[in-house]
Order: sequence, then structure tokens, then C-alpha cells
Amino acid sequence: MENQNQSNSGISRKQFIHNSALAGATLLLSSLESWALTNTGKKLKVGLIGCGSVSNRYLPQLLSSKFIEVVSLCDIKYERALAQNKLYNVNAATYPHIEKMLAGVPFDMIVTTTDMQEHGQLNKIALMAGKHVWSEKPLANTYAEGKALLELAKSKKLRLWGAPAVVDSPQFAYMSKAIREGKLGLISSAHAQYGHTGPTWSAFFYENGGGSMPDLGVYNMSTLTGLLGPAKSVMAMTSIVKPFRTVDDKGKIKVEAEDNAHLLLEHDNNVISHVMCGFNFFDQHGHEAGNQTLHSIQIYGDKGNLRLIGYDWETNGVVMDTLEIQPPRLECTDKGGYEWQEGARVVGESIVNVTEPLINVEHALHVLEIIEAARKSQLEGERIWLESKFPFPVV
Ligand SMILES: NC(=O)c1ccc[n+]([C@@H]2O[C@H](COP(=O)([O-])OP(=O)(O)OC[C@H]3O[C@@H](n4cnc5c(N)ncnc54)[C@H](O)[C@@H]3O)[C@@H](O)[C@H]2O)c1
Repeated sequence: MENQNQSNSGISRKQFIHNSALAGATLLLSSLESWALTNTGKKLKVGLIGCGSVSNRYLPQLLSSKFIEVVSLCDIKYERALAQNKLYNVNAATYPHIEKMLAGVPFDMIVTTTDMQEHGQLNKIALMAGKHVWSEKPLANTYAEGKALLELAKSKKLRLWGAPAVVDSPQFAYMSKAIREGKLGLISSAHAQYGHTGPTWSAFFYENGGGSMPDLGVYNMSTLTGLLGPAKSVMAMTSIVKPFRTVDDKGKIKVEAEDNAHLLLEHDNNVISHVMCGFNFFDQHGHEAGNQTLHSIQIYGDKGNLRLIGYDWETNGVVMDTLEIQPPRLECTDKGGYEWQEGARVVGESIVNVTEPLINVEHALHVLEIIEAARKSQLEGERIWLESKFPFPVV
């Protein structure tokens, strides 16, 4: 078992957690604590940029928090900022451009929910202006751009985080604990999948910089690496199955980014996992998967396996199937309030309360490197080695 507990650098898991905790504590003192010290008793002021589909999920979350105040809304389609302001009774200032937003009502953290291709540059502008950042995925267009953003954030004693928030669910914690306690025996393999028939409203999902990996596979990659540890290498095949689409904002478009992807990830201790994602998967549950009774993720050891029922973003329970638990049993069905759209609220509250959230920017960067590596692997027909790590285990 000790070998299973070794991190990539060869130091023990205990040492690694200790080192990560120290690094985390330093960051916490320099950025989280500084905000709280100078703003005792105040709410965190948030500006949200990108008032499209996902803002319908984000705004109720942010508005539900007693620690957060949404003071600013921005969209280049300005009527959307106005409409969301009214629909959710936000009472925020509204802007048609990030520069106007930054010059307007002051705020502490930006929440970036625009087209994926815009995230990197908007997050950079916000960091330069001294804002903490929560970004929808991906937090940048390339791993290099993402790393530069993190350096910028650190140099300005600001925090940067990227979706998704899958590590927050009780089911993730339950699975992680079961693996670490050896309930599944020696871990060898895992599989995760997520797909639907693709968004119909915006072209960016299918244009360069979009694709099913940063939109959908990103959840599975976060879950599998979060449970099994950082990936050391990636091999992948990706394809475009449907070359043309019709979407609301641009009509008929040519699909440029992959709408079908299979990835093999190599983790420490010879563990191999597989992610399958795409925009051509029939799934009767779509975006409302509370009643899904089938699993989308499975982890195998030599003494048991577990199946996550539902999806990592909509967790309906975990089936444990082990030497000890026979017949297989559905456990951990309580979501404990977890919702996939909670990330911005959770990290915003962490700034106010000076607590370190489970969601970690290095984890998001690692997943970004995996996505880029998968594209390179498809192009070159080769296994691609990764450099990034993140604090592991997550819980
Ligand atoms: N829609 C969902 O259910 C969902 C779920 C999870 C994550 N996401 C993620 O959320 C992000 C947004 O997705 P969406 O479905 O809301 O897209 P959308 O097209 O509905 O909304 C995006 C909005 O951003 C605005 N925008 C684009 N560039 C901008 C800029 N430079 N400045 C200001 N506004 C800008 C657009 O005008 C649009 O209103 C994506 O990263 C997506 O992967 C969406």
C-alpha cells in the first residue's frame, strides 16, 4: 500500500500533504487573509461577465450567499446584462464591455462566464486590475496561458480559480476515502464518460478553442485525476463526427473543434483511466439528471469496484461492489447541498471566511494540460508526457 501513497516526486503522501498545506497556508495569509483583514464584516463584491445560459445557474447561487453581493453585470450583448439584472432582481450596475465594468462600480472578484475562447484574456485583464478571479472552464485557452495567469495572480497576491467544482460533492469525498482506505484493494483502472447532443445556442462550443473536452470531458478529467492522482501521460483519439451544425447565434456553422474524444490517462502506480466525451451522445437525461439511476464513472480495484450513479456534476449516489459488500449496495445518496454551479459562490465565501476551498487552481491547470496533450496526441499519434501536478489527495 505504501507505494500507492507515493506522490509523483517520490516524497510520501503525508509529506506531500504537509508541504501542500504549508504552501496553501502561505497563499492564504498573503491573499485571502489580507482581504478579510481590511474588510471585516463586509460582503465580497462580485462582478459577473457573460450573462448567457450559465448565468441562469450562477446568479441564484451567488445571490443566495449572505457573504456575497453581486454589484456588476457585463455582456457584450448588453441587453443580456440588463435582462439578467431584472430577471434576478440583482440591482447591479450593468456594462457592455470589461473595460467599462472595471472603470465602474468597484468589486473584489470577477466571475467569468463568457464564451470559452474569451476566458484567458478577460481573466488577465481582471487580474491586472486587481480582481480575484473565478472562471468557467477553461480558465485559459492554453496551458501556458493558464500558467502565466497563475503567476500573475500570485505576483499580485490575488486568487484565481477555475471550474468545475466536482471535488466538492459528498460522493467525490466518499469515493476518495474508499480508495484511500483500500476498500477496493489494489487500484488498476477507471472509466468516466459524459456527453449529450451538444449545445444548440452558441457557435463557440464548436469553434477553435471550444470542443467537447473543455466543455464536457473536463468534469471527468477533474474527477479521475482528483481520485487517482495527477496524470503522467496521455494518449488520445479525437474526431469530428458532425462536420456542420445549426446554432441559434450564427445559423449553419462548420465544426472546428473535436465533438468526440477518447483519452487514456496514465497515473502513478501503473493505474490507467479512460475518459470518453462528445457532443453526439444520446442521453435522455441531458442537463436534468437528478433521476439518472445508471452510472457514468467506474473505478476498479482487485477487491472491489465502485460506480458513481448519475454524473460527477449531478451525483446521485455510489454503488459499492466489494468482497465485503455483497450484494452491491447503493450508498452516499445525499448530495449535501452540492450543486455543480456552486464554485464561484464557494470560493467567494472562502475569501470572506479565510478558508481554503477544495477547488484548486493547479488542478484546473492540470486538466487544461491534459486537454492540450490529448489534442497533440491525436495530431502526432504519440503518447504525450505532462509536467503539471496539483496537491493530492484532494480529500
Ligand atoms: N450553459 C450551461 O449549462 C453551462 C454549464 C456549465 C458550464 N458552462 C460554461 O459557461 C461558459 C458560458 O457558456 P454559456 O452556455 O452560458 O454560453 P452563452 O453563449 O449562453 O453565454 C455566453 C455569454 O458571454 C457573452 N460574451 C462573450 N464574449 C464576451 C466578452 N468579451 N465580454 C462580455 N461578454 C461576453 C456573450 O455575449 C454571451 O451572452 C462556457 O465556458 C461554458 O462551457 C455552461
